[in-house]
Amino acid sequence: MTRAQRKIDHVNYALLTGQSRAHGLDDISFVHQSLPNTACAAISLHTEIGELSLSSPIFINAMTGGGGEATERINAALAEVAKQTGIAIAVGSQMAALKDENEERSYRIIRQVNPNGVVLANLGSEASVEQAHRAIEMLNADALQIHLNVIQELTMPEGDRDFRNALVRIEEIVKAVPVPVIVKEVGFGMSRETVQQLCSVGVTIVDIGGFGGTNFASIENERRARMLTYFNSWGIPTAASIVEGVEEGISIIASGGMQTAVDAIKAIALGANAVGYAGHFLKVFMEKGTEGLIEEIECMHEDMRFMMTALGATTIAELQRVPLVIKGDTHHWLTQRGIQ
Ligand code: FNR
Repeated sequence: MTRAQRKIDHVNYALLTGQSRAHGLDDISFVHQSLPNTACAAISLHTEIGELSLSSPIFINAMTGGGGEATERINAALAEVAKQTGIAIAVGSQMAALKDENEERSYRIIRQVNPNGVVLANLGSEASVEQAHRAIEMLNADALQIHLNVIQELTMPEGDRDFRNALVRIEEIVKAVPVPVIVKEVGFGMSRETVQQLCSVGVTIVDIGGFGGTNFASIENERRARMLTYFNSWGIPTAASIVEGVEEGISIIASGGMQTAVDAIKAIALGANAVGYAGHFLKVFMEKGTEGLIEEIECMHEDMRFMMTALGATTIAELQRVPLVIKGDTHHWLTQRGIQ
């Protein structure tokens, strides 16, 4: 199995296995306010994650690159969507391009199409400081995502088996690179303990990448003969993981199962500063093309403004403080963990 084929497999199997919507956000209810004292025109979607300033809290999360022309085409289209809608975009892991420079094109296309937008570079926690510098330079990136994907690697037949010293490497990269570092999960969620460990080495932005959306254990299990089915239901659901991640000095990106504007509004109300969409945007793009995805995102922006107006929240900071009622498994999780 070549690396390029694996990248294409990931796209195909992500579409095939879909998103489970087991993220727990359906456990969250708003408390309706009949006198919100707001106007749609006064709503600002502007947000900040660490030192990054974004005109919208929603963005296209890391997906692809490194699979030749097929992935270059997807990245070119997603970059066009990001440019037209003014949202940020992350690329898939750039390790493929660091190992084979012929693959650089499939990533660089994002910066070519979208020269002035916010672009996030992406590498795994096995990356060295030198590789981190090269990944950022390749895209003139505004930030670097470092993904943590232990469960995916263990389920992948050709995956890593040694996860020692990841935190040390992350600390070295945070100290060395000139842009903010976002440490992200890929659909298994982050615990409070993980976020505190990251915080202790200088990380200020985490993408909790919770359970309940695209499931990389299921995807990798589809690609192997002896399935590790116990990993298919492994992980912290997104809603619980956002609250686990709330920590002084940390900006939280919520992702994992995001599909609608309601999901984004609930995630922000739980404490997130921004919200990443991967599998859903890929599906909409595959089914409806570039224009279809642009329309979807514009509708989401309008829906977010409507809901913020109803909730009496003019800014993202105000939305983070609206009252909520939490029921079901998410309530149970947060109560047992003592973090509600
Ligand atoms: C991903 N994801 C991902 N993440 C990452 O950090 N580096 C990567 O290379 C990839 N590759 C990738 C390929 C494809 C096809 C998909 C759908 C996703 C993970 C992604 O950024 C996100 O964390 C998870 O998909 C969970 O979010 P969704 O898909 O439920 O919104």
